[in-house]
Amino acid sequence: MSKKTLLSGLKPSGKLHIGNYFGAMKQMVELQNSGKYDCFFMIADYHALNTVQNAKEMREYTLDFILDYLAIGLDPKTSTIFKQSDVSAHTELAWIFDTITTMPYLMRAHAFKDAEAKDKEISVGTFNYPMLMAADILLYDVDTVPVGQDQKQHIEYTRDTAQKFNNTFGETFKLPEPFIMKEVAVVPGTDGQKMSKSYKNTIPLFATREEITKAVMSIVTDSSGETPVNVYNIHKLLRSDEELKAIYDQNKGKYKILKETLIEDLDAFIKPLREKREELSKNVEEIKAILADGASRAKTRADAKLLTVKKNIGVN
Ligand code: ADP
Ligand code: TRP
Repeated sequence: MSKKTLLSGLKPSGKLHIGNYFGAMKQMVELQNSGKYDCFFMIADYHALNTVQNAKEMREYTLDFILDYLAIGLDPKTSTIFKQSDVSAHTELAWIFDTITTMPYLMRAHAFKDAEAKDKEISVGTFNYPMLMAADILLYDVDTVPVGQDQKQHIEYTRDTAQKFNNTFGETFKLPEPFIMKEVAVVPGTDGQKMSKSYKNTIPLFATREEITKAVMSIVTDSSGETPVNVYNIHKLLRSDEELKAIYDQNKGKYKILKETLIEDLDAFIKPLREKREELSKNVEEIKAILADGASRAKTRADAKLLTVKKNIGVN
């Protein structure tokens, strides 16, 4: 049986933290490793351009991002890893979709409504975000799009756009299915709220031993019980309940020891990732080669699809 096609896009923005890893990235690596999919992982740099408008930052974020993702196990040998801006068919198809899409329809998008509610000046690129995303997906005859719950509406826009195009110009696009990654219990940050880069309560995924120590020592402990809940909830990501029960029973009320154990466990988990990332970062040429190879593979597929589209709309 032939493999299904999977595509996911990720915006290069900020450092990954362990909440991102356990909440989303780990599942992507697992889907890739299941061997059931022909995988495309795209760095959505043109989407990011709506907010990152500085060449130095854009380059840095993009490089950081690809190092992060290779270090956690996205594999350029089995998956196609590429930058959106390297495959011009994406923006070209987005334009074609613009012409069959109405403004009131785009104005119903959550992201647009949120920005409007905050009285933000919205760029046309932000308004149009769903059409570029539809192009990202529809160019590759994708079956499955793994995303977080917040992206579900964008997949609906993609399906609607495919349907509308097919109705207008004849059967052209396959309708993709969203794969909403299961909500892993929210990973708490060092202050007990959801771990998030906006709250500055994160443990970075590639933290050094010192950074881990500093973050763990700053975990707010609730002194009402004998188990420091915030410490325990982060610890849960790394050890089974059984193992933890033994450790926490033995050290009731001894917060310092429990935190030190968490530091050891976090460091044991992060160290190999950190080392792999460090190794990769020494070889920028190899990263460039991975992106060039990904771009070439993605381009072959996307250009062929765009040619069909052009025939079907009558410009070819
Ligand atoms: P942040 O809140 O740090 O800005 P993002 O919104 O960029 O993180 O999240 C990217 C992905 O990581 C989301 O799809 C979400 O599933 C996952 N994620 C982020 N924070 C957590 C968390 N604290 N617990 C579980 N998953 C998370
Ligand atoms: N909009 C997605 C996000 O903010 C990123 C993205 C761009 C994407 N293109 C995509 C996700 C295509 C899946 C498929 O996270």
